[in-house]
Amino acid sequence: TVRSFATTSSRQNAIKTVTVIGGGLMGSGIAQVAATTGHQVVMVDQTDDILGKSKASIQKSLQRVVKKKFAEDPKGGEQFVSDILGRITTQTDSNAAVANSDLVIEAIVENIDVKKKLFSSLDKAAPQHTIFTSNTSSLPIGDIAVSTQRQDRFGGLHFFNPVPMMKLLEVVRIPATSDETFNKLSDFGKAMKKTTVDCKDTPGFIVNRLLVPYTIEAMRMVERGDASFKDVDTAMKLGAGYPMGPFELSDYVGLDTMKFILDGMEGSRLHPEGYATYPFNFPLNSDTPSSYEGKRGYVRYTCSAIIDRP
Ligand code: 3HC
Repeated sequence: TVRSFATTSSRQNAIKTVTVIGGGLMGSGIAQVAATTGHQVVMVDQTDDILGKSKASIQKSLQRVVKKKFAEDPKGGEQFVSDILGRITTQTDSNAAVANSDLVIEAIVENIDVKKKLFSSLDKAAPQHTIFTSNTSSLPIGDIAVSTQRQDRFGGLHFFNPVPMMKLLEVVRIPATSDETFNKLSDFGKAMKKTTVDCKDTPGFIVNRLLVPYTIEAMRMVERGDASFKDVDTAMKLGAGYPMGPFELSDYVGLDTMKFILDGMEGSRLHPEGYATYPFNFPLNSDTPSSYEGKRGYVRYTCSAIIDRP
């Protein structure tokens, strides 16, 4: 009986309304999954035009789900999509968007000053109980949280691309994060049907800490002339069971995002517990022609433009 009481009370406290700030690749994926799992979602971006595109991309992704789940039931599929889209509203005013929010998930540009300015403003606009999180993959959560008076209600929720398909969620705590906040974030992750792992606020958390050096070594390998792009990708797919090789994955994530993560790791080498073993230094030169044409098209950098060889 004690147990069922605890369950009921934690359900009453559970996160129901979510504000997702940023309607890009990650933000729209997060909004989609939150709405699919029954949460009420407000998605925020700078213009209605951007938000229209975000909603269109959510719709497109839902259609892929429907094609499988409702193959024999097109009417049910239509209902499924319209129910989910019905739980997502859009806003261009982030302060207004947090008025009834239990949880804010920020997925905007990887710029510390822009993030701090946003959270400082949201801190005044949001109710006391609202938990703030960032989906950053390159900046310390603690450095962002200092812009608020609610560091005990601050943490990281790090999702993976494509959000609807990837089953993992890294739940990140800073020293100030309360146990209550952390448990609520983990419960929210499970309610989103993700498997959660607990992370400290260290560079790259778990996945990128391992994935990014691996990817960089693949680039160095090609630069040394040890193997071709194609063979490295084939080798890791067929020899290690990865769904994408390191080059296909870098292109899928975006070299711009990769560079943000690397810059974050480079910067945090200065931290005592930081990233000490890998010598990163990454001048990015966008004028350099590409030697790997990826699917995303705008990837126009040679590896040596990203990597300063040791
Ligand atoms: N929405 C809905 N469904 C999607 C989707 C999306 N955005 N993307 C793919 N799918 C579905 C497809 O409909 C398809 O379903 P089906 O098999 O039933 O027809 C299924 O996923 C497989 O898709 P594809 O056949 O197009 O291609 P793949 O078999 O290669 O799968 C993939 C695509 C799931 C993306 C797979 O290649 C993969 O897992 N790649 C690795 C992705 C990865 O490692 N992500 C993490 C990157 S790191 C990160 O995000 C951290 C950040 O900080 C940078």
